[in-house]
Amino acid sequence: MEECAALLGLGRLGSAIARRLLESGLRLIIWNRTVSKAIEFSRKYGGIVAPSPAEAVSECSDVHVVVADDDSNYSVLLGPQGVIEGLRKSGGRATIYNHVTVSIAHSATISKLLSSIGVTYVEAPVIGGPDRAVRGELLVLCAAEDESHCAGQRLRLLGKVIYLGKPPLAAAAKLAFNITFLGIVASLGEGLALAEAYGIEHERFLEAILGNTWIKTIVERYGRRLWPGGEARFTSSLALKDSHYALRALQERGVPGLIAAAVSGYYSLMVRENMGEEDYPSLAGFLAKLAERIRLQDSARGG
Ligand SMILES: NC(=O)c1ccc[n+]([C@@H]2O[C@H](COP(=O)([O-])OP(=O)(O)OC[C@H]3O[C@@H](n4cnc5c(N)ncnc54)[C@H](OP(=O)(O)O)[C@@H]3O)[C@@H](O)[C@H]2O)c1
Repeated sequence: MEECAALLGLGRLGSAIARRLLESGLRLIIWNRTVSKAIEFSRKYGGIVAPSPAEAVSECSDVHVVVADDDSNYSVLLGPQGVIEGLRKSGGRATIYNHVTVSIAHSATISKLLSSIGVTYVEAPVIGGPDRAVRGELLVLCAAEDESHCAGQRLRLLGKVIYLGKPPLAAAAKLAFNITFLGIVASLGEGLALAEAYGIEHERFLEAILGNTWIKTIVERYGRRLWPGGEARFTSSLALKDSHYALRALQERGVPGLIAAAVSGYYSLMVRENMGEEDYPSLAGFLAKLAERIRLQDSARGG
C-alpha cells in the first residue's frame, strides 16, 4: 500500500513541512481551518484536502500537527470533528507527530491523555523556519514513550532528529531554545532604544558602534528583518506565545524568568499595536522607533 501522511495546519511552517513530505513521494492528506488555504496549497503543490481532522485521520493514521498553540492543538486533537473523534468512529489507531511549540503543562496533559487511549504520541517541535523545512534541514527535538518512535525515517525526512526522552522534554528544550534567541533580539532592541532615547540615532549606533564589535554577527544575521514591514517567517504573535510559555515553564520550577517576562511584555506591546503579524526580529526596530518617537515628542514639547 502507498505510504501516506496527514498534515493538519497549513500556516508558514505547516505548508513548508507539507511540501517536504509531498516531495518525498508520500500520499498527503491536508487540512487547514481556513479551507481556502488548503485548496490553494493543493492546487499549487498537491495533496488531498480533507474536510476535518477526523476525516484526515480516517484516511491516514500518521498525523503531523502544525497548528499555532495549546488551544488550537487541543481543538484539532480533542475538539468536535477532531482527530480523536475520527479515531473513535473508525476504531483505528494513529501516530501523532506534534510539531506545535506548546507549553509544558499542555505537553504533559496531552501526552498522558493520548497514550492512555492507545495513540502513539511523538512530541516533535522543530528548530528552523519554513525555508529550512522545505529543504529537510530542520532540527527536530523529539520526545516519546519509546525512543524507537523518534528513530523512524518519517522524522528524518524533516532534518536532524535529537531524542530527549519522554514528553515534555522536547517541549522544554524547544522553549529553552526560543527564549534564548528571543532574549537576544529583545536585548538588541533595548540597546537601540537606549541609544535613541539619548539622541544617538539608532542607525548610527548599529553601524558605528555595534558594527565594530562581535555583535555585528547578530546584526548581519538578521539584517532587514530587524525592521517592521518585511515578510514574516515567524510572527511576533507566536513569539509572544512562546515567551509566555517559557515564563510559565521557568516559574513552575521556581526560576523568576525575568528575561522571559520582559520579552513577553515587549511582544504584547507589539501585538497591541496591531503588529502581531510582523516578523519576530522586528521587535528590535519597533523598540528603536518607539524610543525615537518618545524623544521627538519630548523635544517638540520643549523637554
Ligand atoms: N514559522 C516558524 O519559523 C516556526 C519555527 C519553529 C516552530 N514554529 C511553530 O510551529 C507552529 C506553526 O507555526 P507557523 O509559523 O506555521 O504559524 P502560522 O503561519 O501563524 O500558522 C498557524 C496555523 O495554525 C492554524 N490555527 C490557528 N488557530 C487555530 C485553531 N484555533 N484551530 C485550528 N487551526 C488553527 C492556522 O490556521 P488558519 O490558516 O485557519 O489561520 C494556521 O494553519 C507554531 O507552534 C510555531 O510556534 C514555527
